[in-house]
Amino acid sequence: MMRLDKLLCDLGEGTRKEVTLRIRRGAVTVDGVTVTRPETKVDPETAVLTLDGLPVVYSKYVYIMMNKAAGEICATRDPKLPTVVSRLPEKLRRRGLFPAGRLDRNAEGLLLLTNDGDAAHMLLSPARHVEKTYFVRYDGTLAPDAETRFRNGIAIPADDGDPACVCMPAELIRAGEHEARVKVTEGRYHQVKRMIAAVGGHVTYLRRETFGPLTLDADLRPGAYRELLREEITQIEEIKRKTRRQT
Ligand code: URA
Repeated sequence: MMRLDKLLCDLGEGTRKEVTLRIRRGAVTVDGVTVTRPETKVDPETAVLTLDGLPVVYSKYVYIMMNKAAGEICATRDPKLPTVVSRLPEKLRRRGLFPAGRLDRNAEGLLLLTNDGDAAHMLLSPARHVEKTYFVRYDGTLAPDAETRFRNGIAIPADDGDPACVCMPAELIRAGEHEARVKVTEGRYHQVKRMIAAVGGHVTYLRRETFGPLTLDADLRPGAYRELLREEITQIEEIKRKTRRQT
């Protein structure tokens, strides 16, 4: 059970003060009855709520698929730069969303924003080796044996504090002149750019196309977003369930 004012606040319907006032002035019904006491206890899973006559649907977690636009940073807030979260409307921002993982500032593509810490942890944990696919354009010429070197685990030099290392086996698929797809199961700093550099290319454009069970919706232009579909959420829940069984 949960206080009505806290529930509406958690669902992004306003600040605690705002929802308290709305409840007091009779804007909220619970199971068809107007409730004017903010402290009224309700069961979020079963209560049928309306606010100003409109249904309020409860969901503990929010999952947003965004096609990150170049120029925005993967953070919740920043004093100077636009962030992926600042693009969201206030109602969603109030739900405590954060980006699950990072893309470089100049990168585009699939980004999951959620308030589900377990899901984010499960998708990002280095131990889980969640697969990601990136589409890249590059300058230069890739070595003829680049595919084999990716498959065998390519050595990449240190970059901005991330030490030199040998990557886990990855896949390089040439997609056209100066275009390729790269599939990796790690998330090192500038990883794809460093891998392409190690075989003679310089990445000029990078877009993430898949992230674990999710594939970037082709209808989302850069900067656009949508809630995950029921079947996409089911896949995330399934991975969470499996992870819990293993631990
Ligand atoms: N690899 C990169 O180099 N940049 C990204 O944003 C993601 C993967």
